[in-house]
Order: sequence, then structure tokens, then C-alpha cells
Amino acid sequence: MTRIDVQGLTKRYGPDTVVDDLSFTVEPGQVTGFLGPNGAGKSTTMKMIMGLAAPTRGSVTIGGRGYRDLPVPLTEVGALLDAGAVHGSRKAYDHLLSLAVSNGLSRGQVGEVLARTGLEGVAGKRVGGFSLGMRQRLGIAATLLGDPQVLIFDEPVNGLDPEGIRWIRDFMRSLAREGRAVLVSSHLMSEMAQTADHLVVIGRGRVIADTGMSEFLQTNGVSSVLVRTLEPGAFARRLTAAGATVRDGRESSLVVSGMTSEDIGRLAVYHGVALSELAPQRASLEDVFMELTKDSLEYEGATAA
Ligand SMILES: Nc1ncnc2c1ncn2[C@@H]1O[C@H](COP(=O)(O)OP(=O)(O)OP(=O)(O)O)[C@@H](O)[C@H]1O
Ligand SMILES: [Mg+2]
Repeated sequence: MTRIDVQGLTKRYGPDTVVDDLSFTVEPGQVTGFLGPNGAGKSTTMKMIMGLAAPTRGSVTIGGRGYRDLPVPLTEVGALLDAGAVHGSRKAYDHLLSLAVSNGLSRGQVGEVLARTGLEGVAGKRVGGFSLGMRQRLGIAATLLGDPQVLIFDEPVNGLDPEGIRWIRDFMRSLAREGRAVLVSSHLMSEMAQTADHLVVIGRGRVIADTGMSEFLQTNGVSSVLVRTLEPGAFARRLTAAGATVRDGRESSLVVSGMTSEDIGRLAVYHGVALSELAPQRASLEDVFMELTKDSLEYEGATAA
């Protein structure tokens, strides 16, 4: 079983510390979502994992070894960091073949990965004519050439249409089901909620959260309760008196926080107030994400410095 182990990873560019003492692991059999706002340090971290940028401090290992110590890297780890990085005049098959040959992999793998990514039909076409979704599939096909146990994808769904997003999401899940360790970055929390088993959230190069996805949703999921009654004004005062925070919602509903729906129900019974609706509201994941990372947004850092 191969995992990625990031230990105290730090990267400085001149005076800027863009990755700051980062530690986390990417476990086999899981999709680990790597989340953070623009400039948080996701791509830089991924480049350091792939040996494309040297850490200022700390270490990254894949199955216990640094990238540069892997005898045939493509058989250990595949990474898609920039889908645009294919020469447009190349045919898809030729692109994959040259990668396979130059890395000492079997030619047979090319057919396999084309089939797996649904690109068989366009294998002989020039990449220049590919849609963004097809390019992304080709990038993914390349990561699979060496049948690696560890896969890294930097913002793979950026710019894709819903069908393309669904395809990538299902693909990541199937890779994890096969026991591979999958690290995938995004700045969209809602996207991660449907893809990841585990979540590493960073802001300004530091870990803000490192948690199981379901655990994360439980702790951060419910934020308020929507209450509807014929006497909203009177009930709002009762709620406030009982310690809840109340604001007006749509169509004269009340949005209550700081009190569970159970307790709100009890309070209504106690005061003989008829409720026509009592509904816990999930905080939108985007809201949770914004809340988590609000102190770490880059432009705020720039003004504070
Ligand atoms: N080669 C470099 N030289 C100097 N600064 C860099 C370099 N590469 C990245 N940075 C800076 O490091 C910080 C983190 O960038 P990085 O690309 O890792 O963030 P990210 O989380 O991937 O963001 P995004 O969501 O926009 O892709 C940014 O402030 C960026 O400007
Ligand atoms: Mg990035």
C-alpha cells in the first residue's frame, strides 16, 4: 500500500512563504480533496510532491521514497498538473506512445489507458482539435500509463461542463476503489463534497482542516433552522428570550441559529405556538469553506503585511 507523506513541507519564494510547515498524508483507497482559495499553495505543494520544485524545508515521500529516488516514477505516481501541456499537432495515440517509450513502459499500456478513458475513437486525431474535456481525459490517460498506485490531479474539473465534471468525479472514485491513493485539488467545496473521502484544507500555505469528509459535514453542516408560524413576531421574541439568534427569512419565515430544531419545537409546544414548518438548514459548503478560509485569503495577507 503506497501513501504520500508530507512532513513539515515549506516553500519560500524570496520573502514569501507560500507553503508553511505543511504536514498531511494521502492514504490509499481514498480520494483526498486538497482545498484552498486561489494562491493557497496547492499547486506548489503538488509540484514539490512531484519533484518539480525543491522544498525550502521539510520532506515529501511516496511509498517511503522521495520522487527523485523512484526508479521508474511513472509506475509509482501519475500526475496531471497542467492539461494544456500537450503539443497540439500530436495525435493522442502518438503522444501516449512517446511517453510510454521514453519511460520504458510497455506499448500495450497505451491501448489500455485509451480504452479506460474513453478515447479509443479519437486516438488517431490531433490533440489540437480536442475539446477541453477530451484534453483532460488525455491528461488522465497519461497519468495511468505506468499503472501507478498514487495519482495527483491539480484542479481537474476546471472549465469542464457538468457531464465532464461527472465523468472525472466518477473516474477519481473508481481509482480510489482500486486501492490507489488519489490527491485532487480544487477551490470548490461543493465539488469536493461529492468526490472526496478525506479533506485537507489549506490557507496561505498552512493546514486549516484535515478531516474525514463525513466528519467534516457533520461538524460544519447544519447552521440554522427555518421556522414558519402565523405569529412570527411573537415567536421570534420567545426564541430570542430563550437564547437563540433570529433573523427574518423569506416569506415571513424565521431563520434561527444557536438552537436545535428539537428545542425550537419544544419551545413552540410550551408556548402553544403552531408551527407550519421546522426545517434544519445545511450551511452551503461554499459558505463553510469561505468561513474557514476567510482569515487566509491572499489579498488580506498582502494588506496585513
Ligand atoms: N515560481 C514562483 N515564484 C514566485 N512565487 C510563486 C511561484 N509559484 C507560485 N508562487 C506564489 O505562491 C503562492 C501559491 O501559489 P500556488 O499556485 O501554489 O497556489 P494555488 O493554491 O495552486 O492557487 P490556485 O487556486 O490559484 O491554483 C502564490 O502567491 C503564487 O503567486
Ligand atoms: Mg493552483
